[in-house]
Amino acid sequence: MAVVAGEVPPETVRPLRAEVLRPGLPADLSAYPGDDDPDSRHVAVRHDPEGPVVAVGSLLADMPPAFLAEGPTVPAPATAERWWRIRGMATAADRRGEGLGRQVLDALLDAAARAGGGVVWCNARAAALDFYLRAGFEPVGEVFEEPLIGPHRAMRRRVPPA
Ligand SMILES: CC(C)(COP(=O)(O)OP(=O)(O)OC[C@H]1O[C@@H](n2cnc3c(N)ncnc32)[C@H](O)[C@@H]1OP(=O)(O)O)[C@@H](O)C(=O)NCCC(=O)NCCS
Repeated sequence: MAVVAGEVPPETVRPLRAEVLRPGLPADLSAYPGDDDPDSRHVAVRHDPEGPVVAVGSLLADMPPAFLAEGPTVPAPATAERWWRIRGMATAADRRGEGLGRQVLDALLDAAARAGGGVVWCNARAAALDFYLRAGFEPVGEVFEEPLIGPHRAMRRRVPPA
């Protein structure tokens, strides 16, 4: 089946975000700070241009917690580079394991590269750690508890400029 992955406005990614990542919680929790920033990018996958959104993710220009900027493996971005945060990665429950999440993540990493590269970070849910490991992210710091959501681990990877 053909797959159409493309950049979309934040309103397009929020319904699947809410369904997968904030079920039963108020809708405003699925609008993230920075969503509307002109540097932010949102990617959605559909199987045809008018079809339902089956996978989403966002890239936000967002500073990490201080501990994540330390350590020898991935140094802090050079002055010309940026910190970027991946948020809101979600694939519809009946479409997981088909490579759609990876397609969204790759599109977001490409967008960061095209925007000058830098270091991309995220707070990964414990259950999604392997998804990010397979995409070249490394865990940093200890597991921590996100209220209402569960255990998370910060992760990061460098993205060279395109
Ligand atoms: C995490 C999530 C977005 C991955 O999306 P997906 O479309 O199922 O992922 P893909 O099919 O593209 O998988 C890419 C790779 O990651 C692996 N992977 C995906 N999800 C995984 C998981 N939960 N645990 C372990 N490995 C996983 C796949 O096996 C695949 O590996 P491969 O490249 O060796 O074949 C999806 O499982 C999801 O929506 N989960 C619930 C919400 C969530 O936890 N989001 C992340 C918040 S940080």
